[in-house]
Amino acid sequence: MDARSEMLALLGSRKQGRSLPRAFYTDPDFYRLDLECIFHREWLFAGHDCELAKSGSYLTLQVGDYPVIVVRDGKGTIRAFHNTCRHRGSRICAAEKGKAVRLVCPYHQWTYELDGRLLFARDMGADFDTSAFGLKPVHCESVAGYIFICVAQAAPDFAPVRAHLTPYLAPHRLAEAKVAVEKTVVQKGNWKLVWENNRECYHCRINHPELIRSYPEAPSVTGTTGGEENPEVAEHWHRCEAAGLPSTLRLSPDGQYRTARMPLLRDAVSYTMTGKAAVRRPLSDSVLTPQIGTMLLFHYPSTWNHMLGDHALSFRVQPMGPRETRLTTKWLVHKDATEGIDYSLEELTKVWDATNEQDRRIIEENQLGVNSPAYEPGPYAPEHEQGVTQFVEWYCRLIGPRLVDRSRTAGTERDARGVHLSLKTGSR
Ligand code: FES
Ligand SMILES: [Fe+2]
Repeated sequence: MDARSEMLALLGSRKQGRSLPRAFYTDPDFYRLDLECIFHREWLFAGHDCELAKSGSYLTLQVGDYPVIVVRDGKGTIRAFHNTCRHRGSRICAAEKGKAVRLVCPYHQWTYELDGRLLFARDMGADFDTSAFGLKPVHCESVAGYIFICVAQAAPDFAPVRAHLTPYLAPHRLAEAKVAVEKTVVQKGNWKLVWENNRECYHCRINHPELIRSYPEAPSVTGTTGGEENPEVAEHWHRCEAAGLPSTLRLSPDGQYRTARMPLLRDAVSYTMTGKAAVRRPLSDSVLTPQIGTMLLFHYPSTWNHMLGDHALSFRVQPMGPRETRLTTKWLVHKDATEGIDYSLEELTKVWDATNEQDRRIIEENQLGVNSPAYEPGPYAPEHEQGVTQFVEWYCRLIGPRLVDRSRTAGTERDARGVHLSLKTGSR
């Protein structure tokens, strides 16, 4: 049986409320299908507008098979292109970040304008038509300081994402913030294990002593249901909404993204060892009350985020192989906050440095155990791991039909004839 048929069969026979069969976390062909059906087709978080402060500022990232460059052009528009030269295909920008007047391929110096047009290609002859060899565009949208890209030919409609995210994110003014520091951790685990770990706090009490000083373990905080039944959460929503901050939990109809503003523990206003602010200057000039808890945003499969009164955290998930995922964390502060005066990097990053390292270890151990032929899907805790169930159901509902719909899936040509999909509908 080929991988596509095998995945379909496993989707059809899996038990809901349990972790996925082993191949979903280990198999290189299943990983290829994840790239083709999900990462090569969905909107993915790339970075922040404020990282591309000036014309010519760029960042690069790998999206499955595709190297991508995101750049602010001469008119201030943020654009994305495939980072592959139209001459013989070299990557044009190798650095993860930089600034350039024009994009010059290092191989033979074909030179591109920041809007992707090919300006110059040496000695290509009088008939050479530069207009036919511009950089290939990648879909690119920016919403409230978040840049999303999509490498598919036809991207899903971004309008619903924009409409959902804007009111929740805009008050935090992240487009005008600055990244105080960013760190990347390579986790030797499948990207779905990274997400499953993120979507529950069942593991927090023992594993995250620093984080649980301020972050509640309650499933109604981490999950996608139950907030309104938690009096503390409901009170928090009421108070924040009255102050003009959209706060109630909102999940997109397909379960791909969620926003919710959650209270922190006791008097905590930030993820620090004391619960006090890590940054003296508020993150946003529009949000001056510190008791706003944390605005949580996830958008599968590429990002989860926390927006606090004094800083914000973004996390970017990049699958690098069936058993390897890169996680990039960025700490954002007010653009005028000064290191050494308004904040110390050590205090700002201490809790999430520790948490990321603890999660790396957890995920790697999870992967090592799942690699065993003795592994079999185990039951999720009904309440504590409701968020994990929600993620897994989102994944299965998305990938199942795409495995069948071969016409819209570029790349691997595997034969799925004769396989009938009997996907279970999700429970949220
Ligand atoms: S490959 Fe880019 S100029 Fe030759
Ligand atoms: Fe964790």
